[in-house]
Amino acid sequence: MTAGDRIVLSSDHTAIPLRLAIAAHIAARGWVAVDIGPTTAESTHYPEHGEAAARLVASGDCRFGVVLCGTGQGIMMAANKVKGIRCGVCGDTFSARMIRQHNDANMLSIGARVVGEGLALDIVDAFLTAQFEGGRHATRVEMIGALER
Ligand code: RB5
Repeated sequence: MTAGDRIVLSSDHTAIPLRLAIAAHIAARGWVAVDIGPTTAESTHYPEHGEAAARLVASGDCRFGVVLCGTGQGIMMAANKVKGIRCGVCGDTFSARMIRQHNDANMLSIGARVVGEGLALDIVDAFLTAQFEGGRHATRVEMIGALER
């Protein structure tokens, strides 16, 4: 990650305060937070928001994506339907680091009803600062890509 890298953020209605906190945190660390909403607490549909964020990552417009819903699970499932997306749900920093190092994840999902703000910010940091290790892991990530073809 380098300063100025664009990180798209999206969520459903359950996760708006946490998403805003993460967006501010990302911006304070020198990355560009591309927050695509939603902005009102009206009930909404997580597949739409997962897809919208995933398309910005898959197109190359954004380097990474951070998505949130109540559990983090539904929006992760939706994001992973977009070709080229590797999104994992994380509730701990070890997993957040490992999905970058071993799985070359390009999106992170967090459950706003599962994880408090302090831990969520640490999870985001772990994800955004870890580097993909390549090597044998690149072979396996290629195999994931082959499943899409
Ligand atoms: C919304 O009630 C909830 O189902 C959603 O935020 C998410 O947890 C789904 O995976």
